[in-house]
Amino acid sequence: TTVTATATLKADAPGPVIDRRIFSQFAEHLGYGIYGGLWVGPGSKIPNTRGYRNDVVAALRALKVPVVRWPGGCFADEYHWREGIGARNKRPVKINTHWGGVTESNAFGTHEFMDFAELIGAEAYVSGNVGNGTPAEMAEWVEYMTSPAGTLADERAKNGRKQPWKLPMFGIGNELWGCGGNMKPDYAADLTRRYGTFIKVPEGTKTLRIASGANSDDYNWTEVMMREAGDRIDGIGVHYYTVPGDWGRKGSATQFTEEDYARTISKTLKMDELITKHGAIMDKYDPKKRVNMAVDEWGTWYDVEPNTNPGFLYQQNTMRDAIVAALNINIFARHADRVRMTNIAQMVNVLQAMILTREGQMVLTPTYHVFEMYKGFQDATYLPLELKSPWYNKEQWTVPSVSAAAARGTDGVVRVALTNVDPNRAASVSVAITGVAATGVTGRILTAATIGAHNDFGSGDAVKPAAFTGAQIAGGTLTVTLPAKSVVMLDLR
Ligand code: AHR
Repeated sequence: TTVTATATLKADAPGPVIDRRIFSQFAEHLGYGIYGGLWVGPGSKIPNTRGYRNDVVAALRALKVPVVRWPGGCFADEYHWREGIGARNKRPVKINTHWGGVTESNAFGTHEFMDFAELIGAEAYVSGNVGNGTPAEMAEWVEYMTSPAGTLADERAKNGRKQPWKLPMFGIGNELWGCGGNMKPDYAADLTRRYGTFIKVPEGTKTLRIASGANSDDYNWTEVMMREAGDRIDGIGVHYYTVPGDWGRKGSATQFTEEDYARTISKTLKMDELITKHGAIMDKYDPKKRVNMAVDEWGTWYDVEPNTNPGFLYQQNTMRDAIVAALNINIFARHADRVRMTNIAQMVNVLQAMILTREGQMVLTPTYHVFEMYKGFQDATYLPLELKSPWYNKEQWTVPSVSAAAARGTDGVVRVALTNVDPNRAASVSVAITGVAATGVTGRILTAATIGAHNDFGSGDAVKPAAFTGAQIAGGTLTVTLPAKSVVMLDLR
């Protein structure tokens, strides 16, 4: 059976720019996220450039990753940057107390991260240590990275980098309500004011100060942070993970029922409400929307794959994750006036990863393919699209079956993104369009035989984009037949 949805798209009433930073990522010192995943070291048998895996770097370059957030997460509030500079064989070996209790060689430090960001063409978003570091340590790190002159700049040059790096964003700690120090909001806001004071960068450069944001629907956190520190920050985070079960039993990444699937979708759609409500609080203190909302951690969080270290957060990634990614991106696009950065957790081998690696092998996940299909939305102009969707329901979970977003790319092309959540029924979507003189439509689709389909090592890609021919445009109406469980990106020409 096929269900029917109708929509209007007003290309003549453009909205805000969808900041490319909405498509950013997060890479933490966690499991095989950095070591093994991005960095194998220059001596590795795995093909690499100065220690970075060639396969992973090429895949990330192809995605046009706007920003990478580093070094955490929880790791950031225990990280001492001085341990990660200088001769690699002299760096102290520490214990990653938060993630698995394994050793941290410090081989990947500030130079390695900044070099990596440049290699993939991304901007840096570095999170400082508020948890167990001092304001002086943080200030010196910022000076080390950004200053053209002085003792710290000389030390940086001696370590191989004469030119200061660009530091577009700096995080004032991470999850200060939890692993970042278990603080109460008033105290965290005071520390944000204090630490933020000492984030100083050279004349003519700008580093956005991003405050540690709320845990999902902790609206009081945003209220207090905005009230007490809103005038001293340029952005504030929000963290929200899609956990199908509860934190004790989150559920398997690959072995799930249709009811688990419907619950996952219902939970992920909460992102819209969270952004709306945190945004309303921000509007109270910042009606001009100067302060960015940065959803700087989001994505699915399942039980780890069997027989893997529970502290490594390694999980597979299926067609379900692709749909979760597309739904969230559509939500972010609709809130582009306030949401100006998001960082999916995480880049490689951790949580809802773009890429999985095993020794010398690499797999691109369904989530990777969604980000790749949405590249044309980076810095595109949002176009209002109103959709009347039928419902998809399974047991007590009822959600709209179709999600859509539209934008005019920097290349002038109008793009329409459509997702059919329903795993069983196709959807016929008819979009009445004003303000586009297009006569043709081309497209790509990501779908699979089952919602649990995934790409695995050595087994070929079960989920990858293909050409899509199910769309026509005539007389100002776009007609699309969306197969069940699919993500489609259309270019109107
Ligand atoms: O992304 C994994 C962890 O989730 C991060 O380190 C932390 O900030 C969050 O709780």
